[in-house]
Amino acid sequence: MAKQKARGEMPGWYGAGIDHLWLPYAQMKTAAPPLPVERTHGSRIVLADGRELIDGVASWWTACHGYNHPYIRQAIERQLAIMPHVMFGGLTHEPALTLARRLAALLPGDLTRVFFCDSGSVAIEIALKMAAQYWVNQGAGGRTKFVAFKGAYHGDTAGAMAVSDLDSGMHAAFAGLLPEHFVVDLPRDEAQSAALEHLLAERVDAIAAIVVEPLVQGAGGMILHDATVLRRLRALADKYDVLLIFDEIFTGFGRTGTMFACQAAGVTPDIITLSKALTGGTLALAATVATQKVFDAFWSDDPDKALMHGPTFMANALACAAANASLDLFAREPRLAQVAAIAGQMHDGLAPCRDLPRVKNVRVLGAIGVVELDHIADLGAMRARFIEEGVFVRPIGNIVYLTPAFTIPADELAALTGAVVKVVRDLC
Ligand SMILES: Cc1ncc(COP(=O)(O)O)c(C=O)c1O
Repeated sequence: MAKQKARGEMPGWYGAGIDHLWLPYAQMKTAAPPLPVERTHGSRIVLADGRELIDGVASWWTACHGYNHPYIRQAIERQLAIMPHVMFGGLTHEPALTLARRLAALLPGDLTRVFFCDSGSVAIEIALKMAAQYWVNQGAGGRTKFVAFKGAYHGDTAGAMAVSDLDSGMHAAFAGLLPEHFVVDLPRDEAQSAALEHLLAERVDAIAAIVVEPLVQGAGGMILHDATVLRRLRALADKYDVLLIFDEIFTGFGRTGTMFACQAAGVTPDIITLSKALTGGTLALAATVATQKVFDAFWSDDPDKALMHGPTFMANALACAAANASLDLFAREPRLAQVAAIAGQMHDGLAPCRDLPRVKNVRVLGAIGVVELDHIADLGAMRARFIEEGVFVRPIGNIVYLTPAFTIPADELAALTGAVVKVVRDLC
């Protein structure tokens, strides 16, 4: 790791522990050292040296109500006093059952069977497993392939990597180790729809499901598509009788403007995955929710037809309590109106980028604002410039994006968009 400029100014725990860390998505030899964070509040990250950064990322898109929301904190504290965790095999508890009931009520159609786990990638693994076993249980065990899309990112575990775009993503080195699926163009136009239909017609006997991030492919570059694409996928999945999985780990809970992205398209998938903002960014929790049709394929006197999965920390009681509190906040506070206001402000605030020479595209969907460049020569330098501007913005690939908390005050959002315009103008 590149040496910290002034390690002496760092807190003692930093110097003592840093050489034992292995950082995410980082070449350890050259990566900039991570910034020590002392605390968070609202849309702000307070560093150990006292600097406050306005957060443009909301901790990988989770902290939708801002940091340290007192209502969620109190719910976690109450639950902590009663029972932080109990295993979910043979036992259950009120926070999990309440959350399952509420998710089923919020989700469209009959997405009513909730399987809890503890991360987005694992929720995807479970969705893939459910889909493949759905067919096994009906005597069609050869249907083990998935249709996924170029630009997709579904997580870092083996199954999730295999349905991500290995070529454009960061897992190309694993191509030979992972099962091969059909990674094709999203059906944005007639030709792409025809190509997908041709694939389904030819290979349906091998295909378990189509898996897609609805409305926006997140980590793959914040690439948007419109609701028509999702309606096409639903129609094709119905026509060829394959399952449809929506990965709403990023888009779920208001990020794109509706509570779930699928609602904007009026489409109900057969399986949906949720995580990230589920607990308002406080604790690790994810859910894979299936329709009655999927669940029915597992309902049997035959033990072999059961879904054999059960992560140790599934349905952690603290996390479920946090998620219930987060849903209360969505019900009580005008989150979706805040998202709409953020969209409007980001649209105007990022507009000056449109005229900059290296900018290819500026786009906004809900509380996602993106400036796409032809390329970013030095991501590390750009990230450092944002810190100098007093904001935490973490460009990836060739995009600079903002995914702030929905509660961010207008002046802080203005500081974020202003910093993006300034840094992009200066560095590009
Ligand atoms: C759409 C999508 N699916 C899955 C994941 C993986 O989630 P996790 O990082 O919790 O494993 C992510 C994470 O960014 C994501 O954006």
